[in-house]
Amino acid sequence: MKSQLTLDQKYDFYERSVQNAEVEVSFMRDEFKRIYGHNAFSMREDFCGTGAISCNWVEQHRDCEAYGIDLDPEPIKMGKERHFSKLTKKQQERMHYLQQNVLNAKAPKVDVICAFNFSYFIFKSRKELLQYFKSVRKSLNKQGIFYLDIFGGPESQKLVTDTKKVDKITYYWECQHFNPLTHDCTFAIHFRDAKGKKHENVFTYHWRFWTMPELRDILSEAGFSKTIAFWEGDDDEGNGNGEFKAADDAENCDAWVSYIAALT
Ligand SMILES: C[S@@+](CC[C@H](N)C(=O)[O-])C[C@H]1O[C@@H](n2cnc3c(N)ncnc32)[C@H](O)[C@@H]1O
Repeated sequence: MKSQLTLDQKYDFYERSVQNAEVEVSFMRDEFKRIYGHNAFSMREDFCGTGAISCNWVEQHRDCEAYGIDLDPEPIKMGKERHFSKLTKKQQERMHYLQQNVLNAKAPKVDVICAFNFSYFIFKSRKELLQYFKSVRKSLNKQGIFYLDIFGGPESQKLVTDTKKVDKITYYWECQHFNPLTHDCTFAIHFRDAKGKKHENVFTYHWRFWTMPELRDILSEAGFSKTIAFWEGDDDEGNGNGEFKAADDAENCDAWVSYIAALT
C-alpha cells in the first residue's frame, strides 16, 4: 500500500532520522583545513536528495558555493521548499540544484565532493564504481577531497531491523535481503508517525554492499593519492560519541558507520 505520508513529512522524517547537515559540513570543512591548511569554498554534493548539506554549505561563508546533483526531481523540489527557500538571496545565488546523473555531471571543478548516506552503493559493478570515482577525481581542484560515508560490521549484513526513536516518530532501518556471494542487498526505511501509524517501505535501496578495503583500493586505482579512514570515538557508555578521527586500526564492532576522505 502506498505510504500516506505527505511529501513534506516523508523528507522531514528522513532528514531528522538519518542526516545532520550541520555536523557533516563542519566535519568536511575542518578536515579540509587540517589537511591543506586553507579553507574549502566550493562543494559538490552528489546524490544530494533535498540538498540539505549544500544549503548548509553556502551559509558558512560569503564565498561558499555549492552544487547539489540528483537524478530525481522529487527530492530537489522538496529541498527547494524546505531548505533553499530559507536562504538569503545572496546565499541562494551560490546554491545550484542540478538534476543530472552523477556519472555525467556537468558542473565546475570544486574543492570538495561528497557522496553520503551510502548512495554510491547503487553502483554494483567494480567497473561502474571505478568510472564514477574517476569522474569525481577529474572534477576536483588540484587540492581537493572526496568524502564518502560507509557502514559495516557483521550485524549490518543480517536480516534485522534497527529501530530508533526520533522525538515522537520511530525510524526503522531494515535489511530485507543480503546475498553473501555478490553482496547484492536490499535495505528499507519505515516510519511510525506520532499518531502510531506505521508507514512501510518509504524508501527502499537495491545496492551492492561495498567494504572499506574494496573502496580504498578502487579510489586509489581512480587516481586519488591517499585515502584516510575515520573511526568514531566512544562515549562513557561505550556508544559512539559522534566524533570521527583518522585511524589505521579499530575494534571489530557489530555495526558501525564511518567516513573515508580521498585526497587528490
Ligand atoms: C540514499 S539517497 C541519499 C540522499 C542524500 N544524499 C542523503 O545523504 O540523505 C540517494 C539519492 O541518490 C539519487 N540518485 C541515485 N542514482 C543517482 C545517479 N546516478 N545520479 C544522481 N543521483 C542519483 C536518488 O534519486 C536519491 O535521491
